[in-house]
This record gives sequence, structure tokens and C-alpha cells, in this order.
Amino acid sequence: QKHLLGLAHYSGDDIQYILDQAQYFREILDRPVPKVPTLRDKTIVNLFYENSTRTRLSFELAQKRMGADVVNFSTGSSSVKKGESLKDTIRNISSMKIDMVVVRHESPGVPHFLTRCVDAAIINAGDGAHEHPTQALLDLFSMQQVYPDLSGRHIAIIGDIAHSRVVRSNIIGLLKLGAEVAVCGPKTMMPAYVDELGANVSYDLDETLAWCDIAMALRIQLERQEDGTELFPSIREYHQMFGITMEHLEKYPDFTIMHPGPVNRGVEMESAVADHERSIILSQVTNGVAVRMAILYLLSGGTRV
Ligand code: CP
Repeated sequence: QKHLLGLAHYSGDDIQYILDQAQYFREILDRPVPKVPTLRDKTIVNLFYENSTRTRLSFELAQKRMGADVVNFSTGSSSVKKGESLKDTIRNISSMKIDMVVVRHESPGVPHFLTRCVDAAIINAGDGAHEHPTQALLDLFSMQQVYPDLSGRHIAIIGDIAHSRVVRSNIIGLLKLGAEVAVCGPKTMMPAYVDELGANVSYDLDETLAWCDIAMALRIQLERQEDGTELFPSIREYHQMFGITMEHLEKYPDFTIMHPGPVNRGVEMESAVADHERSIILSQVTNGVAVRMAILYLLSGGTRV
């Protein structure tokens, strides 16, 4: 495929193909000189209309490790501030002869829109509350380091499901690899579509933690709450009902802890839980570079090595 917009159009075999390619790059990252110049003739623009630490830096690192020419665009210092439209911005950038665009935007569908504006390959780095496919791929990769075969495994995603783009991509990817998925969170943060996608829904954290092999916590996305509405439950109430605590780790001794980041310590989990030996949160970040290398490599026409 030319673009990576979401995971819906990929089969389980396609997803495994990307993850197997990522394993090759993951091993390269552990070498003394973790470079492989397979994108030496490519120019890539990282177009971030929303804040990012992990996704933007890991894409940039992946691109540089592969020898690409990289340009970073952030709205704060661009002519977007002078009123330039998204379409004009992308058409001007494209006129500078680029091969790929990595885009993050607050509006769902922007990556799809850009495919109709320019010839470059488009990679979705998060579009509103819609999809975050590269995050889901790195999550799947990280889960397979714990359970190489995810078929039949119980994966729980806990938190602000309604405003998350990570959850949709993860549910799609996990179900395609044969896992069972449960989502857990407050009723006010639970959208109808998760049931339609095939995830089980729970409003009981203890029931969910007793069931799961892996628990992925999600941040409450205050930036996507409607202005002027009072958050229900409040942050404090949320932590009491859905925050993962050290007590939970003792009570349910088997589940692995994940989080896509950024973590709000003391809200979705106690600080000690984030740093616990059962947490693979920082491995997810390392794996993100390898998975993004694999995606860039395959979209640029590489065949699996
Ligand atoms: N997980 C994730 O997308 O993190 P950033 O917002 O820091 O990129």
C-alpha cells in the first residue's frame, strides 16, 4: 500500500508482515552503530499540527537512522499562524519535491484528505480521536515480545475510550491477530463503536484486571473534552474507580502493564505502577523507533528483509 492511514484495510497477515520487518530493525537498534541507509534518496516532512513527544521524535530518529533527508514542520513557527489553509500548506510543501509526509492533526480524516492533495506517501501519526496506527503497531510488537502468539490472549484497554485514537487502532489490530479485547472505563467515556468493532465492554476495573493478560491504561484526554462541561468523573474520582494501584498488582499477579504515553502519574495509574518491573512502557517507546523504521521502509517500496 502507498499510504498508512489506519489498520482497517490490513489483514492479520499484513500486520504480522510489518511486525516481522520491525523485528529486523529492532535488532539493528541494539548494534553499536544503529544505522541502515535504506532511505538515503528520500525526503520526508514531519507535519505536526498537534503536540507530540514520542511519535514525532521516534519518526525523526527512524528517518535519520535510515539516512533520509528530514524536515520538521510545527504550526507554532509556520505561516499557519498567518491563516494559511491546510491544503495550501501541504501543496506548497509538496512543491519542494518530497516523498513522504508524516502527519498529526486534531481533525479526524486529515491524512485521508492529504492523499487527495499531493503525490507523496502519507502516514497517519494520529488524527483527532480517530486512529493512531503506528502506535497500535508498536503496541502489538511490544505485546508479542511478552506473548509471541497473541491468539486467544486477553488484552484490556482501560481509560478514556471515547477520546482515544489509540484504542480504535489497537482494537482493530488485536482482533486481526486473534486476541480478545475488553475496554474498561467510565460510562461517560465509553463510545458505542467499541462494541460494534468487537470489543467487550466492562465498567468494573477489578473484573477486567482479573481477566486480562495485558492491561493498557489510557490518559484522560482533557484537550478533547468539550469546553465548559464539567468532567465526570472528576480526575480524583476517576483515579479511585479506574486507576491501577500497587494493590491491584499484588491482587492480580500476572498482568503486564502498558501505556502509550504520556502518563499522568497518579491518575490512570500510581507512579510506582508505571515504574514497576511488570511495566513495559519504556520498551514500547524503544520499539516505536523500530516499528516506524519498518513502516517507512515498506512504504518506500522496500520488500521484507
Ligand atoms: N503515544 C503518543 O502518541 O505520544 P505523543 O503524543 O507524545 O506522540
